[in-house]
Amino acid sequence: MGSLSHFPVEFWARQYGLHHFVETGTYLGDAVAVAARAPFRTLWTVEVDPVMAVAARRRFADDPRVQVLVGESTEQLPVALAGMDGAPAMFWLDAHYPKIPGDWTTLPLPAELDLVAAYSGLAQSVVLTDDRWIYEDDQVLAGVFPEDHHVRDLVTQPLKAMEARLVTTHRTLRSPVEQGYAAFIPLAWDVEAI
Ligand SMILES: C[S@@+](CC[C@H](N)C(=O)[O-])C[C@H]1O[C@@H](n2cnc3c(N)ncnc32)[C@H](O)[C@@H]1O
Repeated sequence: MGSLSHFPVEFWARQYGLHHFVETGTYLGDAVAVAARAPFRTLWTVEVDPVMAVAARRRFADDPRVQVLVGESTEQLPVALAGMDGAPAMFWLDAHYPKIPGDWTTLPLPAELDLVAAYSGLAQSVVLTDDRWIYEDDQVLAGVFPEDHHVRDLVTQPLKAMEARLVTTHRTLRSPVEQGYAAFIPLAWDVEAI
């Protein structure tokens, strides 16, 4: 499992005026805790497991900026996006478990990327994804890429499709460390590597 702290979250939030933080896959809330140190106006996190979501609500009960949404990321992301105002945001897409364990065709990331791509403030926003080992088989230190060629074709499409879609506004940067990261960074940002 990667970590949001791989990225200079607070520095980027201040330097590039990011107003919102949005996460899919809350788990224990550790990424929210990292992001909460930055001056985001709102922090949204989506968790499909209601027990984990309740625990996260308790953990961040003292921070009125934090909203924990319960449910499928693809259903709850639109709720978060509707609560934002088109201001620059940081997205941390980390709900990588398939709906059916082992069924790589039900990963939420492709639909999450479609939803994020429609955000009105996307050109000034950064999109960070974890677990690149699932989606690309080059230069990732940990993780077992699916053997089946059909599945490989399927899972390698989302990041490449997003890269093509954002080619005029963002550069796509990749990191092999841990389970691998991919980030879509606004072209105006002074960032060459992650
Ligand atoms: C790798 S953990 C997230 C770690 C967390 N983002 C962090 O940085 O500390 C993945 C989490 O995603 C949740 N999850 C899996 N599929 C989901 C989905 N379709 N929608 C929302 N949450 C999901 C899991 O229950 C789990 O808590």
